Amino acid sequence: MALLDLIKHRKSVRDFLDRPVEREKIMVCLEAARLAPSACNSQPWKFIVVDDKQLKDKLCAAAFSGIYSMNSFCKVAPVIVVVISEKTNFLARIGGMFRGTKYYLIDIGIAVEHFVLQAEDLGLGTCWIGWFNERAVKSILGVPQNKKIDILIALGYYDREKLGSEHGREPIGKIASFNSY
Ligand SMILES: Cc1cc2nc3c(=O)[nH]c(=O)nc-3n(C[C@H](O)[C@H](O)[C@H](O)COP(=O)(O)O)c2cc1C
Repeated sequence: MALLDLIKHRKSVRDFLDRPVEREKIMVCLEAARLAPSACNSQPWKFIVVDDKQLKDKLCAAAFSGIYSMNSFCKVAPVIVVVISEKTNFLARIGGMFRGTKYYLIDIGIAVEHFVLQAEDLGLGTCWIGWFNERAVKSILGVPQNKKIDILIALGYYDREKLGSEHGREPIGKIASFNSY
């Protein structure tokens, strides 16, 4: 698909089909994420793909209970991708401190959007998940508690007919200008 068409086609998916996702397709999505640019090329990410049903169910039960239960729809996603924000390299860290910019979050955002758009191109739906019990996710997957997990991706096949209406976006005139603020 042409890039802009693909971007227009993508919507957050919160209702998935009970159909496993082929590892080959997940590998293509990971490759798209791997090739993302990052500040000082520090590539501060690691992806844990949870596609084992038993483990995924356990993860979802723990990650989306209590105050996080608004995301319990993730339980029907056949795959959850856990994105670990790894340490940036020295240059990106110093540059980030000097500028007061969390470059690693920008980097993670680009890599995840690469993943998400690639998934869409393969006919797979995704939802970015930022509201989850991080401590529980770390403990179930053996991620050291001193690491940071900022985002998860719910992934799976979906029925396009069942998608909700589109989320509105601000018009270009409100979010962009030429040559001055
Ligand atoms: C960083 C980030 C975190 C998000 N966290 C959640 C989440 O926890 N639960 C959820 O249902 N959607 C989440 N979303 C999806 C947004 O709600 C969604 O992208 C937005 O409403 C626009 O809708 P669209 O993706 O269908 O265009 C998140 C999106 C981003 C980029």
